[in-house]
Amino acid sequence: MAKPGGNLGRSGLMRPNETMRLIFSAVIGVMLGYLFGISFPTVSITKLHFPSSIISYIEDRNSGITTQTLLNHAWSSANNHKRNNSSDPNEIPKIYVPTNPRGAEMLPPGIVASESDFYLHRLWGEPTEDLTIRQKYLVTFTVGYGQKANIDAAVRKFSENFTIMLFHYDGRASEWDDLEWSKRAIHVSVRKQTKWWYAKRFLHPDIIAPYDYVFIWDEDLGVEHFNAEEYIKLVRKHGLEISQPGLEPNRGLTWQMTKRRGDREVHKVTEERPGWCSDPHKPPCAAFVEIMATVFSRDAWRCVWHLIQNDLVHGWGLDFALRKCVEPAHEKIGVVDAQWIVHQVVPSLGNQGHAEKGKAAWEGVRERCRKEWSMFQTRLADAEKQYFIEKGITPPNSTV
Ligand SMILES: *[C@@H]1O[C@H](CO)[C@@H](O)[C@H](O)[C@H]1NC(C)=O
Ligand SMILES: *[C@@H]1O[C@H](CO)[C@@H](O)[C@H](O)[C@H]1NC(C)=O
Ligand SMILES: *[C@@H]1O[C@H](CO)[C@@H](O)[C@H](O)[C@H]1NC(C)=O
Repeated sequence: MAKPGGNLGRSGLMRPNETMRLIFSAVIGVMLGYLFGISFPTVSITKLHFPSSIISYIEDRNSGITTQTLLNHAWSSANNHKRNNSSDPNEIPKIYVPTNPRGAEMLPPGIVASESDFYLHRLWGEPTEDLTIRQKYLVTFTVGYGQKANIDAAVRKFSENFTIMLFHYDGRASEWDDLEWSKRAIHVSVRKQTKWWYAKRFLHPDIIAPYDYVFIWDEDLGVEHFNAEEYIKLVRKHGLEISQPGLEPNRGLTWQMTKRRGDREVHKVTEERPGWCSDPHKPPCAAFVEIMATVFSRDAWRCVWHLIQNDLVHGWGLDFALRKCVEPAHEKIGVVDAQWIVHQVVPSLGNQGHAEKGKAAWEGVRERCRKEWSMFQTRLADAEKQYFIEKGITPPNSTV
């Protein structure tokens, strides 16, 4: 408890030098007001056709920056009004740059910032001195709080050259802050959405343009034998645009392609069970990785982002279509064996479904996954067919 006497002394009685300070502030205020008034002798705010709400805003706020900005704006648009005519020699020529991004044609190209990043800035100081490091790689995990320890272990395998981004599907984003790296990570919290839903919405190619590679990973991966910097070196060396680490075959491995080989750095082709591959250069024998731990180059991601459908949130079938985005796919898609992971198969999001009609939550999710797979295949096949027909070409047998 503070002493009552002390409080009273502060608010009730004013010492002489405080009185002086008050008078001084008042004088400065009046002077500033006068200067401000004479700076804009010819512009009367009310003549500028502002909605009355803006005028009252200016008058209420009377804040230096805001008022000045608004006035500058009004000043130049008032001038534009006068000089609207092209025969006027004083006219400022109109800007129209058709090569600017769509919708930004009226801006001078020098000011157009068409790409962004996830770099964190300070609120003070020189903007050019904000960044101590510009990460060249991005890694995203789609996470629930239950996998915190696993994700912590995974993130430690990624150096300071990676921007870390977490998509929280359980709304518990703030509970990660005790982890040191969490404070520099980008957290996106939207309940019960899938990895591909987040990727489509928050990883637009223009937003993540500075990153050479983007890792779009599940939360249930064991990374004991994985090092991200080494992985990138191998991906560059072997020219892989779309890749994943080899999977340790512990259990339930679906595809031969993604199985880790102990005797090499990377592999790009495999043998499957008889009859599974119609073409040795096509999935699932080549040009194929799964979607649990995929790594994309910048260029590949620009294409794949467009392939992701907004409503098909589970991404099933996407793995078979990735090859549409790189050429030749059987050389640019592959599995990195020397840096490998273990798929731990935690149900996670699968359990976030909705139990109905006597079925467990995970069953409904699984059913939806299968349905999406066939919808995606149909859409892609139809789109290709339509393209060929419009071009007057006989569509080849489905290439999907
Ligand atoms: C300015 O010119 C445009 C077209 O040239 C016209 O639509 C607009 O009404 C003009 N504005 C004024 C204030 O004369
Ligand atoms: C504006 O341009 C039109 C045609 O270009 C011209 O007839 C008119 O006189 C001009 N007005 C002024 C104020 O320059
Ligand atoms: C981060 O990137 C820089 C520049 O490419 C490199 O010199 C450095 O070794 C990288 N850091 C780690 C931990 O590999």
